[in-house]
Amino acid sequence: MTGRGTPSAGPTEAPAAPPGPDPLARTERLVVRRFRPTDGPGLHAILSRPEAVRFEPYGVQDAAACERIARDRAADPCFWAVERAADGVLLGTLYLAPAEDPAWATYEVGFVFHPDHWGRGYATEAARALLDHVFGDLGAHRVLAHCDPRNAASWRLLERLGMRREGLHRRAASFAADDAGRPVWHDVAVYAVLAEEWARDPRA
Ligand SMILES: CC(C)(COP(=O)(O)OP(=O)(O)OC[C@H]1O[C@@H](n2cnc3c(N)ncnc32)[C@H](O)[C@@H]1OP(=O)(O)O)[C@@H](O)C(=O)NCCC(=O)NCCS
Repeated sequence: MTGRGTPSAGPTEAPAAPPGPDPLARTERLVVRRFRPTDGPGLHAILSRPEAVRFEPYGVQDAAACERIARDRAADPCFWAVERAADGVLLGTLYLAPAEDPAWATYEVGFVFHPDHWGRGYATEAARALLDHVFGDLGAHRVLAHCDPRNAASWRLLERLGMRREGLHRRAASFAADDAGRPVWHDVAVYAVLAEEWARDPRA
C-alpha cells in the first residue's frame, strides 16, 4: 500500500526461504504460505489486471516480470501468498513489514487479491490470520495500513478487520505523472489497530 511492496523489490537470484513458519496459517478455506519461485503464472494472473494494481505504486506486470517477482518474493520475508486450500489457486498476496523503530513493535500490512475472487471474504479471512500471527506470535503493539481513500474495497476491508481511520494525509503520495510530467498527488488514509483492541474483539 502507498509505495510499499513494489513488485521488483528484493534479490533476483537463488532465493533462500526466509526463516519462520511456513505455512503461516491454514484457515477454513485458505493456506497462507511463503511464495515459491514457481508462483510466476499465478502472480501474473493477478498483477496483469489493471483493477488489481490501480492503487498500487506500480502498473500491470507482464509474465516475465512476474517470474522475477515470484523468485524475489520467495526470498522476501515481507510477502505471503494466499492460496485456496481446495485447489491451490493463488488468490492473492499479503504484505507484512516492521514499521518505524523495531522497539515500537509496529507493523504495516497490505493486500492484493485476484479480481475474479473479490467479494467472497477471502481477503478478510487471510488478513485475520495475518493479524492473529502479528499480534499473537510476533507480539505486535500496533498494526497500521495506508490506503487511498478512493479505494473503497480496501478501506472497507480494513474497517471489517476492526482497524480505525486515524488520519488523512492530504496529497501525500504520487504514483503517476500528468502529461507535463508533474506528479499527480493523492490523499493517504492511515488505519491502525492496537494489540489490546485485537485481543478484545478480533472478529469485530
Ligand atoms: C482490497 C481487496 C483485497 C479487497 O478484496 P474484497 O474481495 O473486497 O475483500 P474480501 O475478500 O474480504 O471480501 C469482502 C466482500 O465480500 C463479501 N463477502 C462474501 N462472503 C464473505 C465472507 N465469507 N466473509 C466476509 N465477507 C464476505 C463482503 O460482504 C464484502 O463485500 P463488500 O465489500 O461489498 O461489503 C481487493 O479489492 C483488491 O485486491 N484490490 C486491489 C489491490 C488493492 O487496492 N489493495 C489495497 C491497496 S491500498
